[in-house]
Amino acid sequence: MFHRLWFCLCLCRLVGVFGDERKFVKMGNSVTINSGLTEIINDDHIQWTFYNASIANINKQINSMTVFDDVLDGRFRDRLKLDNQTGSLTITDFRMKHGGRYNLQSNNMNNTFIILVYDDISMKEGDSVTLNSDLTEIMDGDRIQWVFFNTYIAEINVTANSMEVYDDVLDGRFRDRLKLDKQTGSLTITNTTTEHAGVYLVLINRMGIYFFLAVCDEISVMEGDSVTLNSDLTETDKIEWRFGTGIDKIAEVTNSMTVYYDALGGRFRDRLKLDNQTGSLTITNITTKHAGRYLLLIIGSKFESVKMFRISVYDSVHCCGPTEAVIRLVLSALVGVATVILLVYDIRSRRAEQHQAHIHTSET
Ligand SMILES: *[C@@H]1O[C@H](CO)[C@@H](O)[C@H](O)[C@H]1NC(C)=O
Ligand SMILES: *[C@@H]1O[C@H](CO)[C@@H](O)[C@H](O)[C@H]1NC(C)=O
Ligand SMILES: *[C@@H]1O[C@H](CO)[C@@H](O)[C@H](O)[C@H]1NC(C)=O
Ligand SMILES: *[C@@H]1O[C@H](CO)[C@@H](O)[C@H](O)[C@H]1NC(C)=O
Ligand SMILES: *[C@@H]1O[C@H](CO)[C@@H](O)[C@H](O)[C@H]1NC(C)=O
Ligand SMILES: *[C@@H]1O[C@H](CO)[C@@H](O)[C@H](O)[C@H]1NC(C)=O
Ligand SMILES: *[C@@H]1O[C@H](CO)[C@@H](O)[C@H](O)[C@H]1NC(C)=O
Repeated sequence: MFHRLWFCLCLCRLVGVFGDERKFVKMGNSVTINSGLTEIINDDHIQWTFYNASIANINKQINSMTVFDDVLDGRFRDRLKLDNQTGSLTITDFRMKHGGRYNLQSNNMNNTFIILVYDDISMKEGDSVTLNSDLTEIMDGDRIQWVFFNTYIAEINVTANSMEVYDDVLDGRFRDRLKLDKQTGSLTITNTTTEHAGVYLVLINRMGIYFFLAVCDEISVMEGDSVTLNSDLTETDKIEWRFGTGIDKIAEVTNSMTVYYDALGGRFRDRLKLDNQTGSLTITNITTKHAGRYLLLIIGSKFESVKMFRISVYDSVHCCGPTEAVIRLVLSALVGVATVILLVYDIRSRRAEQHQAHIHTSET
């Protein structure tokens, strides 16, 4: 049953994986799972579990608060913090072995959270990129599978002593380009092209790590301006727009269009417009809070890919006195330059689709 659950978690269509209770954490970062409570009332009993193992509880009646960080071979040791006001749980230095199903139960609550781990990699077209399994060595009985969107591209089964790359799949776009490390299970893709942009997943026994490989457009915008992130699609099937280190969903097109105004504490409220033909996303009246990385996941029936945009926002300058006019002048000149760069970049990056694009996911 354990196995089937995990299978279900990771291998149903990405659309399913990317459901609402799912949260992404970057490898090595901390994550706080919010209990949703503002305070714990007197007779409350709060219990956190990871799969079926109890990892923390608060019993207000006897005023006790405990973390059980030695369960499951100590994988949570020194990593759990429990908030004594809200019961929220923080996991520090989040790694592959912490990804999965968390459950919170209290007297009148029973919530499940799926926390998935991803890793950032950076590269350029023509480079080799290594997707790291986070293992130092493969053990007896291990099984490692590499998935690109929903297609298996490589597999190691230690019990069967087998190691395979399936590089004929997907019109041969991986042909002669995949290398599996038999010590660690890490996968190297050599001589990458834009065809290799996408969502990669390594499944190791019951655990997994996601990787987002994409062409990145760098865009600079003046605070208060609008910017449109072009999907370069002429029709949309299924797409998702995601933002920031948490890869939070902010908009999607399926059969209908949805904008998640409440994501990230309402940061994008009244600021997003989704084009109903192309799925391009416009962010209006931009502020520094909207700077960062945007991911476009395209999960169509014929075509799957990932695009990435990094927006940096120029702050407006507060000034006073005689230099103001000069600074204004410099500023407006900068705006002009920024616009030109943006246009040139846009044209270039479209051409890059066929030629020399930069494929990388960048640090945050
Ligand atoms: C959790 O379930 C597994 C089998 O699915 C079992 O081996 C293990 O003992 C259980 N752990 C706890 C803490 O109940
Ligand atoms: C909660 O923890 C803080 C320190 O972590 C402590 O100062 C405070 O007294 C605690 N509050 C309760 C209600 O236990
Ligand atoms: C809490 O929810 C989970 C999954 O939704 C379910 O398996 C479990 O039985 C529930 N527990 C209680 C006490 O209702
Ligand atoms: C690995 O290979 C062995 C032997 O062929 C097989 O019995 C086992 O089911 C495989 N393991 C998995 C997880 O598929
Ligand atoms: C890299 O791939 C391109 C086609 O995408 C091919 O023309 C070129 O020969 C390859 N380079 C190497 C070193 O394999
Ligand atoms: C798309 O939006 C435009 C105006 O925003 C509207 O006129 C048109 O009917 C919409 N098309 C669809 C298919 O919803
Ligand atoms: C832009 O956002 C700021 C707050 O960030 C707000 O004060 C201002 O009214 C907004 N401007 C427009 C035109 O919506």
